[in-house]
Amino acid sequence: MSASPGPRGGQHIQITPSILNSDFARLGEEVARIPGADWVHVDVMDNHFVPNLTFGPTMVEALARVSPVPLDAHLMIEDADRNAVAYVEAGCGSVTFHVEAAKAPVRLAREIRSAGARASMALKPATPIEPYEDLLPELDMLLIMTVEPGFGGQKFLDLCLPKIRRARAMMDKHGIETWLQVDGGVSLETIERCAEAGADVFVAGSAVYSADDPDAMIAALRAKADAARG
Ligand code: DX5
Ligand code: ZN
Repeated sequence: MSASPGPRGGQHIQITPSILNSDFARLGEEVARIPGADWVHVDVMDNHFVPNLTFGPTMVEALARVSPVPLDAHLMIEDADRNAVAYVEAGCGSVTFHVEAAKAPVRLAREIRSAGARASMALKPATPIEPYEDLLPELDMLLIMTVEPGFGGQKFLDLCLPKIRRARAMMDKHGIETWLQVDGGVSLETIERCAEAGADVFVAGSAVYSADDPDAMIAALRAKADAARG
């Protein structure tokens, strides 16, 4: 991991490629192509919370065994309260649930932490951050979606940028260093806007896996984000 302290609280830039647009028949080889990643972003979809279906804890556990970098699970599933801890047990170092799907987000974040992973909460584009300000100290990371969740390869939604800015301002106000992740449409063209707004952890799916050299793309994305953070 590269450590380049930014202006806000010393967070450093992390790149977390999503395997959603990789070749599912060769997942082991696909993760071996991105040794420069900080995390591998694993999109878990249940065909209820989002209109798409991917994989469950058994497959994630198999991936955790071969991945050169830790797994960052993004759970786009309806019954998050009951199912999230299974992904910690499957070997994920970070587990993100959607606040729209959690009945008791504080209890769930605490359960994820006590099970031994970093706890993270995601917001869809139309979900405001303000009601959750007091929850931030319970979280290791906040994920602000920059597309409607469900599919890779969608267009980045600029309307999410003010929310990223407001979330970073809240963290600064409370003096906490919660990581701020963005996910959806992040590319060489959009990553600077996210970094300037205060994001420090960047999911990139199609940008990384459609590149001829995915690991070189990670380095290029990191350089752009680093430059934008000054
Ligand atoms: C979308 C997923 C994303 C997706 C990102 O619901 O959560 O992680 O794979 O893919 P790109 O970077 O192509 O938008
Ligand atoms: Zn995701």
